[in-house]
Amino acid sequence: MTDTSDTVGKQQTGSVKKLFIKTYGCQMNVYDSERMAGLLKPLGYAASDTANDADLVILNTCHIREKAAEKVYSDLGRIRKFKTQKERDGGTMKIAVAGCVAQAEGSEIKTRAPFVDMVFGPQTYHRLPEMIARASREKGDILETDFAVEEKFDTLPNQRELKGYSAFVTIQEGCDKFCTFCVVPYTRGEEVSRPVEAITAEVRMLAAKGLREVTLLGQNVNAYHAQAPHGGIGGEWGLGELVRHLAKVDGLDRIRFTTSHPRDMDAGLIAALGEEPKLMPYLHLPVQTGSDKLLKAMNRGHTAAHYLQQIEKIRTVRPDIAISGDFIVGFPGEDDTDFEATMQLVRNVGYASAFSFKYSRRPGTPGASMLKQIAEPIKEARLARLQILLEEQKQSFNTAQIGKILPVLMEKKGRNPGQLVGRSPYLQAVHAELAENLLGQIVPVEIVDTLSNSLGGRRAIPGAVLA
Ligand code: SAH
Ligand code: SF4
Ligand code: F3S
Repeated sequence: MTDTSDTVGKQQTGSVKKLFIKTYGCQMNVYDSERMAGLLKPLGYAASDTANDADLVILNTCHIREKAAEKVYSDLGRIRKFKTQKERDGGTMKIAVAGCVAQAEGSEIKTRAPFVDMVFGPQTYHRLPEMIARASREKGDILETDFAVEEKFDTLPNQRELKGYSAFVTIQEGCDKFCTFCVVPYTRGEEVSRPVEAITAEVRMLAAKGLREVTLLGQNVNAYHAQAPHGGIGGEWGLGELVRHLAKVDGLDRIRFTTSHPRDMDAGLIAALGEEPKLMPYLHLPVQTGSDKLLKAMNRGHTAAHYLQQIEKIRTVRPDIAISGDFIVGFPGEDDTDFEATMQLVRNVGYASAFSFKYSRRPGTPGASMLKQIAEPIKEARLARLQILLEEQKQSFNTAQIGKILPVLMEKKGRNPGQLVGRSPYLQAVHAELAENLLGQIVPVEIVDTLSNSLGGRRAIPGAVLA
C-alpha cells in the first residue's frame, strides 16, 4: 500500500511537504489527527502551523452541533484562497475534509465546496497514504466513508510520537446508545472496543518514551468490554479491570478516562476509582438534564435519581472526586419545571467543571423532528442561568483548594518567565515558579490563589504532606 504513495510523495517535490491539520470537536479527533500526522510522516509530510503554503490541508471536523459543522465551511472558504494563490504561483495544495462532517455529509461537501479534493470518514484513516496517492495520480475526487473500525485499529502503525508527558489513547470507538439529540452513532458507527493487548502495547510504547499520564478515550468509554489477555483467561474485562492492568505499566503515574455514560458506571469501575491510586479523582459524567421526562425523551436510559445515586456511590469510595458534566438546555418539550429540575440536580451534585449547550437540531436525529421545539431566546436565557450556577460551583471547587498541597504534573512552560504549568489530580491547570528541569515531574505544589481558569501555587516545602 505504502509503496506507491511513498514514491508519489517523494517524486512530487523531492523535499519535505507541509501538512496542516485543523482539529475540531472532541478528544477523539485530537487523537485521530495525531495518528494521521504520524501516518503521513514517512511520506515526507511535516506538520506546519499555517495553512497558507501547505501541500496538504486536512480539516478534521465535528458534526455535533450546527455551529461546529458550519465553521468548517467558513474555514474552507478561507483555505480556498490559499489554494488559488498557491496554484497561481505554480504550486499545488490538496484539501481534505475528514472527521464527522465528512462521515455525515459525504458528497454534499463536494457540492458546497467543489475545490475539496478528498472527503473521508473517521474509520478510513489507515487508508490515507493510498488515498493521497490516488488523488495525486488520478486528479479525481476521493470519497471514503466506510465503517470498518476494527480494521482501522488493526492497521494504524503502532509507533507514534509523544509530545510532552501526557497522551490520549483510544480504547473504544462508536456508540450504540442513540440519544435522540446526538449524531455520534451515525458518524462514528457502532460501539467497538479495542483489544487489551493493543492498548497495553500502545501505552507501554509511550511510557518508554516518557509518558506519565494517559487519558483513555471512547465516546462511551465506560462501556468498554473486551476479552482478558492471554486468550480470555479471566473472562471479559470492563474498564475497571483495564485500568488496574494499565496501572502496572512502568513509568506511568496517572490514568484518566473520558467520556462516561451514567448507565455504564458499573461496580468494577467504581471500586477502581476508590482503590487504584493511579486513577485520578476526576470523572466526566454527563447527565444532560435533571428532568426525568426529558431524560426519557432523550433516550438516556436512566432517571435523575439514578444519576444522583451513582454520584453518591462514587463519592463514598472517593470523597474528593471532581465531578464534571455536560448539559443541554432547550431540548424539545423542555418547560420551566424541567429546566428547574436541571438547576436542582446541579445544586445537588456540585460540579467542579461542566460544559453546557443550547440544543442544536441535527438533521436525521429523532430530536430534529420532535414537536415543541424551543425558541432561541428561551434557550439563551436558560443557558445563561445554568452557566452562572456552574461557574459559581467551579469557582468554589477551585477556591476550596487554596492552602492544600497538590501533586502537579508539570507539562509545559508558563506564560511568564520562570513559570511552569501543569495539571492537578482534578484536572485544574496549576502554574508555579519552578525550574525547567521539573518539566515532566510530579511536583508537590501549595495552592495559593485562583484565577478564572487556573490555580496559582508555589513549590511546597520538602517533606510536606500531600492533600
Ligand atoms: N459520548 C458523550 C458525549 C458526546 S457529545 C456522552 O454520551 O456523554 C458531547 C456533548 O455534546 C454531549 O454530552 C451533549 O451535551 C452535547 N451535544 C450532543 N449533541 C448535541 C446537540 N444536538 N445539541 C446540543 N448539544 C449536544
Ligand atoms: Fe451521543 Fe448519547 Fe452516544 Fe453520548 S451516549 S455519544 S450523547 S448517542
Ligand atoms: Fe464531534 Fe464527532 Fe467528536 S461529531 S464531538 S468530532 S465524535
